[in-house]
Amino acid sequence: MLLSIETSCDETAVAILDVNRWLKDDSHFDKDGRPVFLLADVVSSQANLHQVYGGVVPELAAREHITNLPLVVEQCFQQASCSFDDLTAIAATRGPGLKGCLLVGLCFAKALAYSKQIPFVPVNHLEGHLFAGELLPAPFCPELPLLALLVSGGHTLLVYVKKFRSYEIDAQTRDDAAGEAFDKIATLLGLAYPGGPALSRSAALGDSTKFSFPVGAQKDSGSFSFSGLKTSVSRTVKSLGERLRDEQTVRDLAASAQACIVKSLVDKTVVACKNRNPRSLLLTGGVAANSCLREALAKEMSALGIQFCVPPPRWCTDNAAMIGMVAALIMKEKTDQFKGWRPGLTPEDALGPDVGFDIGAVARWPLGELRGV
Ligand code: KG4
Ligand code: ZN
Repeated sequence: MLLSIETSCDETAVAILDVNRWLKDDSHFDKDGRPVFLLADVVSSQANLHQVYGGVVPELAAREHITNLPLVVEQCFQQASCSFDDLTAIAATRGPGLKGCLLVGLCFAKALAYSKQIPFVPVNHLEGHLFAGELLPAPFCPELPLLALLVSGGHTLLVYVKKFRSYEIDAQTRDDAAGEAFDKIATLLGLAYPGGPALSRSAALGDSTKFSFPVGAQKDSGSFSFSGLKTSVSRTVKSLGERLRDEQTVRDLAASAQACIVKSLVDKTVVACKNRNPRSLLLTGGVAANSCLREALAKEMSALGIQFCVPPPRWCTDNAAMIGMVAALIMKEKTDQFKGWRPGLTPEDALGPDVGFDIGAVARWPLGELRGV
């Protein structure tokens, strides 16, 4: 019985997974396609708290996690009909993310693991996103090797995943993340926070050919860039002056900017797919909610004969089920070590295979640094 915690940004998320059931059961999913090994899965969003500031305020987010985390854990126990005493392992996101926020989940998990004398498994947040597809039944679950387009408010990455712990980065952003670009451009257009959904709603009613904006880092297939687009939209907004009050003009600007972001993401994904020839493309992260992006990728993947997978929104955005999934994969790879694991007398020995009591949160933790388990 594994409890997993995710607090890297502004979502307080907890899940409970029955790892033995996942390891042993051939049919991991019920007739409605729900994973039977996922006993609880709760996400508490702080979006309302940060709305007035137009972005996540790290200190406020950390304090909110401190208040919310015990409540969300309690809610999970109710969902799974179990308690602290039933837990046999704890996992938490160690990074990358906002350090103060990460520390809340990490320290909670370490203290719990120590007091219960059960192993603690630290998890990389990005790796969590890469394996969110494991929560889906066939034929929706991506097949390996896969190419993942991870697009959120903090990350824009194209990753080739040969297998668990074998990752190669095909492209990443040189400046803003794709979601950040959506949010900043939405702010320039006077749209509500969080900007991504508002901008895509406005864009649906606009004409994407009305304005011409640059598609960043076009020639360089190894990187994305969205800062030039943001500057260009900002200049256009200034030159439009009073005309920005016209709702249709805002819609056309939104549609034109969205088309640029989508084109940049799709073009590089197609190049990477042609180079790698993966069996599946996994689209994940908050920006996966963008229907324009999903439709464009679905069309390209169908032409290339590559399976296209998009988990439902709750597992594309930050959640603890994906963190638990990675912890389960680590435990599976290290079965012998976990089986032989005994709580130690010293704090160092109490925290599970390879994990010392001094393990800290890390703001940066590139996927490339993850080696075989
Ligand atoms: O993964 P996520 O929930 O949080 C992290 O950033 O980790 O992603 C949030 C991002 C925000 O930038 C938000 O504006 C963007 O995803 N987003 C969208 C849409 N829905 C959410 N961007 C474009 N179109 C959308 N429909
Ligand atoms: Zn994320």
